[in-house]
Amino acid sequence: MKFPANFVWGAATSAYQIEGSTTADGRGVSIWDTFTAQPGRVVAGDHAQVAIDHYNRYREDVQIMAELGLKAYRFSVSWPRVQPDGAGRINAKGLDFYRRLTDDLLEHGIQPWLTLYHWDLPQALEEAGGWPNRDTAYRFADYAEAVHDALKDRVHTWATVNEPWCAAFLGYASGEHAPGRREPAQAVQAAHHLNLAHGLAARRLTGSRVGGCVNLYPVRPASDDPRDVDAARRIDGAQNRFFLDGLLKGAYPQDVLDDWGVSFSQEDQELVGAPIDLLLINYYSPYTVSGAPGGKASASAAPTDTGSPWVGNEHVSFLGDGLPTTSMGWEVEPDGLKRTLLRLKRDYPAIPLVVSENGAAYDDVLEDGAVHDTERVAFLEGHLRACSEAIEAGVPLEGYFAWSLMDNFEWAWGYGKRFGLVYVDFPTQKRILKDSAHWYSRTIMSA
Ligand code: FCB
Repeated sequence: MKFPANFVWGAATSAYQIEGSTTADGRGVSIWDTFTAQPGRVVAGDHAQVAIDHYNRYREDVQIMAELGLKAYRFSVSWPRVQPDGAGRINAKGLDFYRRLTDDLLEHGIQPWLTLYHWDLPQALEEAGGWPNRDTAYRFADYAEAVHDALKDRVHTWATVNEPWCAAFLGYASGEHAPGRREPAQAVQAAHHLNLAHGLAARRLTGSRVGGCVNLYPVRPASDDPRDVDAARRIDGAQNRFFLDGLLKGAYPQDVLDDWGVSFSQEDQELVGAPIDLLLINYYSPYTVSGAPGGKASASAAPTDTGSPWVGNEHVSFLGDGLPTTSMGWEVEPDGLKRTLLRLKRDYPAIPLVVSENGAAYDDVLEDGAVHDTERVAFLEGHLRACSEAIEAGVPLEGYFAWSLMDNFEWAWGYGKRFGLVYVDFPTQKRILKDSAHWYSRTIMSA
């Protein structure tokens, strides 16, 4: 593998999944606090009131990052910690936490990469209609500006909204994620307003490097049957092109709007397409789809009873392709990452890229103080090789962030799915480097 000397080697987390301390220092309530309190929403009734206690243990965690030799750390800011009601009053103590964290990172020579929204909407905004309500986008832009004013002196790279597809369609169509609504038409509005939130905020973060963050899947048809080919067009449209064309071209693909039976004003689409400096890509798995009747529902089935996130495309089935899977049931295909990167270079040539999440959950076992996660090492190696090949082929890829630095609260799956390079013993909060952490560290040091 070959990487440029200034390649950004990082690892990622998000606030709700690691911080805990959900009532400390004036933090407000988020939709995930409400959702996790409802029976049947999260496997085993897990919640994130303590999570991995990063709010109190951030110094130890930064120390671990330094030992690993990370050049950058991608984290998110909790909106209700900074602005408890989602509008108006800013909670200085909330901002102070991120000041302490970023100071500590900088002291250790680690670049802070900040994501403004990783799904923890203030509950007050959900009560005002949530993301289907256009006003939420404007509230986000105000919040973004407040965080930017406080931290722009120490944070240079900013991401707006993490994975708008998930926030919209898992939150408002399938109901697998908070707020758990199953209102397909509202989910489409939410998707647009999340994009709008990105565009409005991007225009306010002047002087910083700003990116959008999307989760992309290469989609292939199960056969050359026209129904399968059309299914692939539809899923690629809903999952990838709606967000990519919106953010990077300021114009949504007409076929996707037709599939959903909606239209959005040209002014709005231009707002979505605010100029940005880079695109953050989260990649986990490929999709193989069929439009023929009788296929099975989904390759990445939700853990709890949910509806479909595939608004207007409910007839499409997701087939396995016989590839090895992680403990999420997600197929492993490093070449899917390479294809995704090459496709971005072809279809959106002007934008620099970063892989902002990539990783795998496996059923790790702690034995004699060690975790021999050979499958995760192979996963990381395969995907980093795909990155290296893409760079060789001319893709402007600037960095790679492993998901995740540490085991954490995996949303509706709770604590049962471990994605970390670092094992966390949840009852004692002890951190233990897995073999993959040692491997990643050696890779960074020798690159
Ligand atoms: C992504 C999320 C991240 C984590 C990984 C496994 O969709 O952004 O928080 O849950 O998946």
